[in-house]
Amino acid sequence: MDDASSPETAGAETAAPASKPNSLGARNVAHVAHGYANLDTLERTPPMVVTRGRGVSIVDEEGRDYIEGVAGMWCANFGFSENELVEAAIEQFRALPYYHTLIDKTTEPMGRLAERLKGSTHVPMARVFFANSGSEANDTLVKLAWYYHNAIGKPEKKKIVSRFMGFHGVTCGAASVTGIPQMHTDFDLPVSERFLKTDCPHFYRYGEAGESEEDYASRLAANLEELILREGPETVAAFFAEPVMGGGGCIVPPRTYFEKVQAILDRYEILFFADEVITGSGRTGCWLGSETFNIRPDGLSLAKGLASAYQPISAVMINQKLYDAMLAESRKLGFFAHAFTTTGHPVAVAVALRCQELMEERDVLGNVTRVGAHLQERIRAFADHPLVGTTRGVGMMAAIELVADKETRRSFEPSLGVKTFAVDRAREHGLIIRSALSGDSLAFAPPLVMTEAEVDEMMRRFTLALDDTTRWVEENGLQAKQAA
Ligand SMILES: Cc1ncc(COP(=O)(O)O)c(C=O)c1O
Repeated sequence: MDDASSPETAGAETAAPASKPNSLGARNVAHVAHGYANLDTLERTPPMVVTRGRGVSIVDEEGRDYIEGVAGMWCANFGFSENELVEAAIEQFRALPYYHTLIDKTTEPMGRLAERLKGSTHVPMARVFFANSGSEANDTLVKLAWYYHNAIGKPEKKKIVSRFMGFHGVTCGAASVTGIPQMHTDFDLPVSERFLKTDCPHFYRYGEAGESEEDYASRLAANLEELILREGPETVAAFFAEPVMGGGGCIVPPRTYFEKVQAILDRYEILFFADEVITGSGRTGCWLGSETFNIRPDGLSLAKGLASAYQPISAVMINQKLYDAMLAESRKLGFFAHAFTTTGHPVAVAVALRCQELMEERDVLGNVTRVGAHLQERIRAFADHPLVGTTRGVGMMAAIELVADKETRRSFEPSLGVKTFAVDRAREHGLIIRSALSGDSLAFAPPLVMTEAEVDEMMRRFTLALDDTTRWVEENGLQAKQAA
């Protein structure tokens, strides 16, 4: 670590790194349109340039290292220097760097990966379809919801229900399923009125005074049923949910929520699609988040941790009834008219396969259970902090939600930028964390191979950042400031 984490710098106003016109970051901004960024801010404050990975840490262009508390984008499950995955890629590059897997061709590792993934689920899945990103996987599921209902002679059953603050991607279909308003504004999304939204299952925020978690779950399930009945169950095709909401705030569902939701979906013959893009491949302590929360999905999407994000790859898994319908359509129409040029890209597949093997060889799920319990304990210890409203998490994902007023649960006025300040201070102390899109939640989702000692070091650095934030909030009287 450099001296950025020394007590001397603690409490200093967050200093944007001086914009050096010829720096790597500035040159980058001159040519690249960066996603999810404030492009105006970026023009003045170039992005951090990451040059190397070392275990659970990354290293910037100046040689400073940072513990990656969110595994990049909740995805580098094996950290940033796993040689076995590098070797798997090199071997496949040498054997066959590309061939397609469409029409009547395939490559050697793809079937092995699909077989392995099918062997990892808690509910039977019939087939696996490969894509390149989580968005593409969820777009595929949207199309399959429509295709399936056409195939079984229910062409009016087309509406898709998802949750407010759920995040499912950015392509037109996936973004329409997404329930985060910022992802729709001025993109003319959702693309049609087929996309409906129901409640965000955030008990701390939306539970009523005196309401138990179970009662809250019953209320949300009743609201979902009311929506379905209002729309007409014969028009509702599918329900999408992340077992634990990621980008929306690392929101762990209230007890009994998914059991109640599943019963309603079953009653009205509505497909349950689990978005396992973050929660799949072990993040919650089971191979799927659906297993942790007793969900029996008809279809699911995987991405991010599938290949520890060392290669871009995603997968859609579908059950027998969905596959039977696809087969029937092929008999009728001649072929299944959906795939990508790089569907099942051999290098991505080879890396994903090795990644899944390593999970077993190294008992990564066991690590998530043990070290995850330690992480959750350390996160819960912040619950009494004056700026912390609530803490939550499961396995290797967790959040700390900051509030201006603990008693009333009032969030900070967003324009004060409190969560951004905390994230920036963490970075100064050598820790990367992410603020969620809703409220003032700070998210942690470290590599699944993190050790207890590394969790402790991560928490030490976070404590310094929270101390800085507390001092800054107090000195500027920010708790009292409310929107005019
Ligand atoms: C739950 C979830 N679904 C889907 C996506 C979209 O994945 P991608 O960015 O690979 O398109 C994300 C991305 O963060 C996600 O968190």
